[in-house]
Order: sequence, then structure tokens, then C-alpha cells
Amino acid sequence: MPDPFRHYDGVPVLDLPADPLVPETPALNVLDGVSGATTAGDGPAFLSQLLFYSAAISASKRAPSTGYRYSLRVNPSSGNLHPTEFHFLTRGLKDWPDGLYHYRPSAHMAEQRALGDLEMKLAGSSAPIVFVLTSIAWREAWKYRDRAYRYCLDDIGHAWQALVLAARAIGCDSFATGHFPDDEVSQFCRLPANEWPMLVVELRGRSIPIREPDACETVWHGGRANRLSKETILYPSIEVIHDTTKRGNRAGGGLFAAEQAPGGSGEIKLPPPDSSRRAFGEVVRMRRSALDFLGGPQSISLAQLSAILAATTLPLSADFGGARFIQLYLYAHRVDGLQPGVYRLWPEQAELEQIRSGDQRVAVAGLSLGQELAGNACVAFSMAGDLERAARAHGDRGYRYVHFEAGAIGHRMYLAAEALGLGATGIGAFYDQEVHRYLNLTPEQGQVVYHFAIGYPVPDSRLQA
Ligand SMILES: Cc1cc2nc3c(=O)[nH]c(=O)nc-3n(C[C@H](O)[C@H](O)[C@H](O)COP(=O)(O)O)c2cc1C
Repeated sequence: MPDPFRHYDGVPVLDLPADPLVPETPALNVLDGVSGATTAGDGPAFLSQLLFYSAAISASKRAPSTGYRYSLRVNPSSGNLHPTEFHFLTRGLKDWPDGLYHYRPSAHMAEQRALGDLEMKLAGSSAPIVFVLTSIAWREAWKYRDRAYRYCLDDIGHAWQALVLAARAIGCDSFATGHFPDDEVSQFCRLPANEWPMLVVELRGRSIPIREPDACETVWHGGRANRLSKETILYPSIEVIHDTTKRGNRAGGGLFAAEQAPGGSGEIKLPPPDSSRRAFGEVVRMRRSALDFLGGPQSISLAQLSAILAATTLPLSADFGGARFIQLYLYAHRVDGLQPGVYRLWPEQAELEQIRSGDQRVAVAGLSLGQELAGNACVAFSMAGDLERAARAHGDRGYRYVHFEAGAIGHRMYLAAEALGLGATGIGAFYDQEVHRYLNLTPEQGQVVYHFAIGYPVPDSRLQA
């Protein structure tokens, strides 16, 4: 297994103050677009709060057989392998030197890779904080092989939402750019060959403590990226798909307005969403993936389901966010007022359309690579991505955006479930073709890109806060 932490060695490392204050705005309100506030009065306190609630370590587990202890983070990741790295550029933050940094979650510190006024020439961005989220595909590929690229993209979707929701909880707006020239951003950040830029996220807002930017020459420390494994195995199909979806290469093309998703309606109107007052900060630090769910009689209410679905429908603030590409299919096992069956969500109308009836527990566990948690949950999901429509608007780059959206929806469902006292698990392992057959999905209707499950988690004795 590759080292789960990337470090840039040989650079100054800046402390982020311990114990940042808990963002108190209720998590469901933040998911609903409500901005919170912060009392952080300087750059270090602000960055510490932002990262503590988006990317930091939040718990650990000990494997009973070996005693090996490993860490878990605020943002979830397929196989807990964390291919995503958080780099960020700051300009004019109070009591914090302008420069380019890499977040070191193992110590909650910032590695200073460059000092001075660096401006990324992306859409003329002059935001005080700009994140560059990168992926290291090898971290996933050693386990998931060719399928790893998808996991990396889903994980970016999760990390993106972890970041922008934490930012919103402390009073910042965000905008994500997916349509950037890859090689230019790589060179700008001086990334090693095995780390790929995936998403650029600008943060703005009156809550960011600012001063005039430094008018000084840029000093590059760079740093040596640590070696993650003694050896790596090349997966040519990952290199090919990454290269194909790069801008500046064959993907080329501009960013066109995508056709809107086809509309539809269903016979079941969702009720007003359930509410919860649980603070954002508490919810994100407590969020965990359930290893399995209690398969007993306990059900969730339709209002709880409605709140979870409502959290997925808010617009995505991104250059590719003008149209949505994911359609949700639900396998309802134990939801009050819903007959067991498969339903399609029509988000505009907040309606569900039943497309299959009967007990789905064995079927969806089977479709999810035999993982029983999909059957023991109260509700499981298939996310169908309209790759054709995405490609018509964004070229091959659209492949990435569909997966970012799936990860983003998954992340919002994790937080909504946690806020409502439920548990959730993202499921990247499923039999694609069998899911298409089971849902009668034609290629024009999309392809399954992610599964998800929500219910009452089985207690996990290995977990340590
Ligand atoms: C894209 C993605 C795919 C995942 N696929 C699975 C899966 O197939 N089965 C499973 O049990 N957990 C899956 N997980 C959950 C991860 O194993 C979990 O996030 C990781 O172990 C870290 O634990 P945490 O979420 O509690 O921080 C997935 C998570 C993500 C983000």
C-alpha cells in the first residue's frame, strides 16, 4: 500500500492553530445554501478552521488482528486511500504570508512551497484563497487497478463539497473551475508527474480576514515530493483516459452550455424535508462511512428521505455546473410510506416515479458486488450519469464532470444523513452492465457511475474519536 500521506519535504512548514471553533450553523441549513460566520480574525485561524472542517483527520481505527492504527478524515475516500491532495494559494490574508501551500493533514500544518505574490492566470482570478485539488492515481490503482480513475474523480467530488460546504459554513462563497489547461496548472504548482490537477476552487467572502497583498518577488521552495511506494505499476488505460480528458490536448474545445436534463414526473410527491439543528462542525467531524447497516425492521421517514434528496439538488457553483448530468435511482427497502421498489427521482418536481416493485434487498446487494450493506440499508441508490450529454457540451472532459457531480451528490448525502442521525456509505464497487440491465438504462439515458446506501449503521468497535 502506498504511503497514505504526501509530503513536500525540505520546505518551511507553518502551524495551523489547534482547536478551531466549531461552525455552529445547522448542517442542513448549510446544505440548503445558508452561509455561516466565523470569529477567526487572522489568516492562520481562518485556514485552520477551513481545513479542520474539510480535509483534516477526524478519527482513527485499529485493526483488531494486527493492532495497526490508521486515520480517517473529514472527507471520505474510496478504500480510505485518499488520492486527493489539497494545495492552496493565498493572497493578502492577514498575518499569513502570501504564497502557495500544500496541506499536511497528518499534522494539520501547511507546507510553504512558494512565498510571494503568485497569481494564477485562470479566469483572471484574484480571489484571496484559491485551492487546487489534485489526484495521485497510483494511490487508488494499486488496489482498484483500471477502475481507479473513476474513484479518483468521485473522490474529487467529495473533497470539493467538503471544502465548499466548510467554506460556506464560515461565510465564504466558492466557484470551481474544471475547464483549465492541465499542463499549465501543473507547471504553475510545480507538481510531480504522478500528481494531476483536477479542480480549481476559488474562495471569496467578507469573512476572510484580509490585508493588502505582499508586493514581493516570488521565492520558490518547491520541496521534494515524498516517494509513495518502492515500485509502481503502470495502468495504461488510466494514463489514456486522463490524457484524453486533458485540456490543451485532444479534448480541446471550449465550455459550451449543456442541454438541460430531460424532465419527467412521478406519482409520489415528496413531503417537506425533515429538519435538524445539528451544527455543521459537529456533523462533519462525526461523519463516518457505515461498514454495514442494521437490517432489522427500523425504517426512515419519507420526510427524512426528502431532506436527503433536497440536499442533492442545490446548484453546483462551477463552470460545468450549468446543467446536471446525474439522475438518481432509489432502491427503497424500508422507507415509511414507500412500497419497496425502485424509484426514479425527478428533482424539479420533487417527485418519485416507481419503475419496479417488490423487495430489492438481494438484488441491489448483488448489483453492488455482493456487498450486503446495500441490502441492509433503508435505501440504496444508483447514480446514472449522462456521459453522452456531458460530452456533447464539454468534449471528453465531460467524463470528469459527471463523476465530480456524482461525488458531490454523495458528499451532500453523507452530511444530510449524519445530520438526521443516520449513517451512509459511498459504494464504488458494482457490476456496471448488470445495473444497466436491471434499470433498463439505455446508453442515451446514461451509465451507472456511483452507488450509495443510507440507513442505521452497525456500531463499529474499532472506531476511536
Ligand atoms: C468513491 C467512494 C467509493 C466507495 N466505495 C465503497 C465500497 O464499495 N464499499 C464500502 O464498504 N465502502 C466504500 N466507500 C467508503 C470508504 O471505504 C470510506 O469512505 C473510507 O473507508 C473512509 O472512511 P470514512 O468515510 O468513515 O472516513 C467508498 C467511498 C467513496 C468516497
